[in-house]
Amino acid sequence: MSTPTQPESSETVLGDRFLLAELLGSGGSGRVFAATDLQLERRVAVKVFSPTIVSGTDGVRARKETTILAGLSHPALVTLHDAQLEHDPPYIVMQLIDGPTLADAIANGDSSAKLARAVAINVAGALDVVHSSGIVHRDIKPSNILLSRTEDGHQPVLADFGIAVEMDATRITQPGITIGTAAYLSPEQVKGYSPSPAGDIYSLGLVLIEALTGERAFPSASAHATMLARLDTDPSLPQDLPGGWRAMLTAMTAARPEQRPSGRQVVEMAESLSQDAYFPQPATASTAKLTEPMPASPATPRPDKSRNPARRVIASISLGVVALVIAVIIVATVNLNQPTAAQPSPTPTLPALEEPLQSHMQELLDAVTP
Ligand SMILES: Nc1ncnc2c1ncn2[C@@H]1O[C@H](COP(=O)(O)OP(=O)(O)OP(=O)(O)O)[C@@H](O)[C@H]1O
Ligand SMILES: [Mg+2]
Repeated sequence: MSTPTQPESSETVLGDRFLLAELLGSGGSGRVFAATDLQLERRVAVKVFSPTIVSGTDGVRARKETTILAGLSHPALVTLHDAQLEHDPPYIVMQLIDGPTLADAIANGDSSAKLARAVAINVAGALDVVHSSGIVHRDIKPSNILLSRTEDGHQPVLADFGIAVEMDATRITQPGITIGTAAYLSPEQVKGYSPSPAGDIYSLGLVLIEALTGERAFPSASAHATMLARLDTDPSLPQDLPGGWRAMLTAMTAARPEQRPSGRQVVEMAESLSQDAYFPQPATASTAKLTEPMPASPATPRPDKSRNPARRVIASISLGVVALVIAVIIVATVNLNQPTAAQPSPTPTLPALEEPLQSHMQELLDAVTP
């Protein structure tokens, strides 16, 4: 067995088999390279994890899941070829997808009903297969949905299972990945419950809102504020959203997991939606569009909210105020619960909460305690 040079880079051969080539991108858990499988002589993608991320993983679960995943096949599921989580460095080998991520497309101004409908049908279909095998994805977000180039456009495919990564407090609070991951967690994941199929559906609901409108359902400058917001707030949907879209997105993001539809039900709902009924963002002449030109805009196009700086500032301030109010209510509640004879505590404490909520609340409380 060859010992890879550290840090791994193009020219490195992993496991005597995978010759790394160009770096495709990097995220909070590692880096993804295009590579050649020297044994099968084909191009693949290799995700090389940082060892610290994998060391906290439940190895037995990860091994079991990778075996099941490698046996799954669905047109909208990136095929997992191999997983070497005990290798140094740990890595997984997957199908190489040619195309941008959904995160790239949204950042490029390509949000549309057509895109959101395609993501709903494809990714919910892939989730249906995955969930039926007893596996949960755990990390549904736009950067984990790839838009594979096809002859007549792009097909959304689901990549990057949280195989080697638990959604624990450490990962959520790491700088750099906090917002990207925290923005799509289900309320029960924020409270520290184990990831579940219904949690994947909730996260996909938030992704669809963004693919449709171009805006995050729970925007915030801070990961803690964005997570706290969904504990007592439903994502807001545009006023003029057609009924079918509203019904599907409301069901997917229901606060109670048991009220959310299955992947199969989402596919059925999405197939009945019109991809032309909603025009969230008029295209700008300078924007390179991902898909074919959309049909003409309606008589009164909606204002392009994502490019209005004043609106963004107001939204950020409002969310900051909401987070502060939550913290003040907690402090007040805690103080009210103190026995009346007791001296007021100079440093308010939190009631016992589940992790990672406890850590987030504590950080928020620390931030507002004089
Ligand atoms: N199978 C693949 N084929 C082609 N490109 C891929 C593949 N998987 C990932 N990528 C590219 O690599 C980039 C980095 O992926 P990575 O999963 O490391 O980051 P992330 O999704 O932003 O964060 P996280 O580490 O939280 O998953 C992606 O944005 C995508 O451009
Ligand atoms: Mg990823």
